[in-house]
Amino acid sequence: MASTFLSAALLALAATTVSASPSVTITDAPHPTLVARAASETTSPLPLTQYTYAYADIPYKVNPYAVGRGPQSGYNQCNSTTEGPDSQCQTALLNSIDDFCLWGAPGTTPNQTIGDVEAAVVAYCTKSGHGARILPAGAITGLQVLKTSAYTQWTGYINQTALNLQEDDSGGELDPHGADELGNPLGGLVYSSGLPTGDNVTEAQVFSWNNFIGSGVFCFKVCDPSVTDKNYCQNIYDLIGCSYNMPAAYEDNVFLECDSDLQDEVGTYTSDGQTYTWSQPTSLPATSTLPWTPRVPSSSNCVTYQSAALFPASDLGYQSSAAATAAAASTTASGASAAATASGSASSRSGSASTSATKTGSSTAASSTSSSTSGASSLFVSGGAFAVVLGTFAAML
Ligand SMILES: *[C@@H]1O[C@H](CO)[C@@H](O)[C@H](O)[C@H]1NC(C)=O
Ligand SMILES: *[C@@H]1O[C@H](CO)[C@@H](O)[C@H](O)[C@H]1NC(C)=O
Ligand SMILES: *[C@@H]1O[C@H](CO)[C@@H](O)[C@H](O)[C@H]1NC(C)=O
Ligand SMILES: *[C@@H]1O[C@H](CO)[C@@H](O)[C@H](O)[C@H]1NC(C)=O
Repeated sequence: MASTFLSAALLALAATTVSASPSVTITDAPHPTLVARAASETTSPLPLTQYTYAYADIPYKVNPYAVGRGPQSGYNQCNSTTEGPDSQCQTALLNSIDDFCLWGAPGTTPNQTIGDVEAAVVAYCTKSGHGARILPAGAITGLQVLKTSAYTQWTGYINQTALNLQEDDSGGELDPHGADELGNPLGGLVYSSGLPTGDNVTEAQVFSWNNFIGSGVFCFKVCDPSVTDKNYCQNIYDLIGCSYNMPAAYEDNVFLECDSDLQDEVGTYTSDGQTYTWSQPTSLPATSTLPWTPRVPSSSNCVTYQSAALFPASDLGYQSSAAATAAAASTTASGASAAATASGSASSRSGSASTSATKTGSSTAASSTSSSTSGASSLFVSGGAFAVVLGTFAAML
């Protein structure tokens, strides 16, 4: 069948070519992927990571197709009209320590869980000007930004009711894949001016990223498309949370930006001189100990900030991007103070932060400890403290 069709098509093409006028202007054939997109897009979406848009050319909706889980619930063109507490903006920007977005619930009261709304999460940003919802000053209570040669990473603590999530939601992972490759959120786009090869101004599309949110802890990593030898933004470890996917010193009440070495690729660890790769099972038992503790990469050139300098309470209205950028530059400069804190250092607060965030009331030992009777699922490293709490977890691979 196929070859018969192909032959007919080739004959038709040959006939057309032969009869073409010699004076006709030959234009380049469209790239094969564009042909494929045009052919399939009338009825169904491509995998989300195959859509490439300059920031100025973002469409209203990347996935308007009523196929499978589609269409996407919100939109990608976000501007002064869409900004505000009920925005359904599904384009997230991750630019700098004081200018980034997290995915959160699309509702307007904090009664949803990531498990309920993973396909429909929307952008909550620290700054106005992005057409999204705006996180209130004080929502983020601890923040560590690590800048590496391959990725840039934001981690920390948040009162997640500001993302309209239930205060005790144990959460899950958002990423541009999912079983159907349409992404969580569906059609969600991510851009950054702060990639390792970024220039702090140009919004470059990020095709490989992930974001965990739950139990009061968040982490968001954007991988530079120019780095292809290793994958630091894998989306296959959704059950093991921030500490394994984005090891850092998670410290509440500390706001810090550092240059950092690279982490180990997730799932890869060394024991007695041998390198092992761990494969995540389809589910993890309620009480579980993994065979390694993630290595927090060493960091340097750390700068600490005051929360109020990064996230002033006054930044509540829509501003033009230029005005927002100028304001950011001035507050950052005045709020900065040099500090030599290593990102891997332990903090006296880490034990209590870890305990309260995981709701276990235990797990403050430096070695791996697990304890939970709840359905919570959270897992992160905090200055050497290690807690594994695994239970019913919305798998969002
Ligand atoms: C603003 O965004 C909305 C929603 O995406 C869109 O319908 C509208 O055309 C945009 N307005 C402008 C001026 O770009
Ligand atoms: C959340 O609250 C809103 C407004 O009070 C309500 O309409 C909605 O049904 C609630 N959703 C859940 C999951 O409880
Ligand atoms: C989180 O914010 C909500 C709403 O402002 C507040 O009621 C709650 O006490 C806060 N939780 C913590 C742990 O501060
Ligand atoms: C971007 O800004 C950072 C400081 O926030 C600076 O260290 C870096 O050199 C800047 N990069 C470029 C390309 O200007």
